[in-house]
Amino acid sequence: MDFYETVSGRVSVRAYRPDPVPDDVLSRILEAGRLAPSAKNYQPWKFIVVTDPAVRRALVPACRGQGFVGEAPVVICGCAIDSQVWKGMGGYWSAEAVDLAIAIEHMILAAAAEGLGTCWIGAFIEADVKKVLAIPDGVKPIALTPIGYPQKETRPRPRKPLSEIVCRDRFS
Ligand SMILES: Cc1cc2nc3c(=O)[nH]c(=O)nc-3n(C[C@H](O)[C@H](O)[C@H](O)COP(=O)(O)O)c2cc1C
Repeated sequence: MDFYETVSGRVSVRAYRPDPVPDDVLSRILEAGRLAPSAKNYQPWKFIVVTDPAVRRALVPACRGQGFVGEAPVVICGCAIDSQVWKGMGGYWSAEAVDLAIAIEHMILAAAAEGLGTCWIGAFIEADVKKVLAIPDGVKPIALTPIGYPQKETRPRPRKPLSEIVCRDRFS
């Protein structure tokens, strides 16, 4: 699929068919995440691929009752490993959320190119996700996404026009 068609065709999917994601497709999606850039190329990440139905079900309350998280055949949780994160962004910032966001978005776009649906999950209870997935201290879940074949077509959400979000040479 053409890159721009992938970008414009991606939508957040909140209803999934139970059909499994073939291993080769899942491998390509994970590879797209592996190739993502990161601050200083530290790659401070671990991606937990959840396919066990019991673990997926346990993630639902940890994701504030978002039932579709348990419906999808695969859930990926992107985690930042604190000891590997560059802490000097903008002179003072930790790059963990940016690094993980880029890698997870690579996977989300790869999934879209494969005809799969995803949905960025930021509404979760960190302590509960850590417990369900046995994530140790010093490792932070940044986001999750279910991955699976969409149950129905989803209409694209509106976006602000470029004229509102782009300015030239100076902030205005
Ligand atoms: C940081 C972040 C957190 C989000 N958390 C959730 C979430 O917990 N549950 C959900 O259904 N959608 C979540 N979304 C998806 C957004 O609601 C969605 O991307 C937005 O409404 C635009 O729709 P689209 O993805 O279909 O273009 C999140 C998106 C981002 C970027």
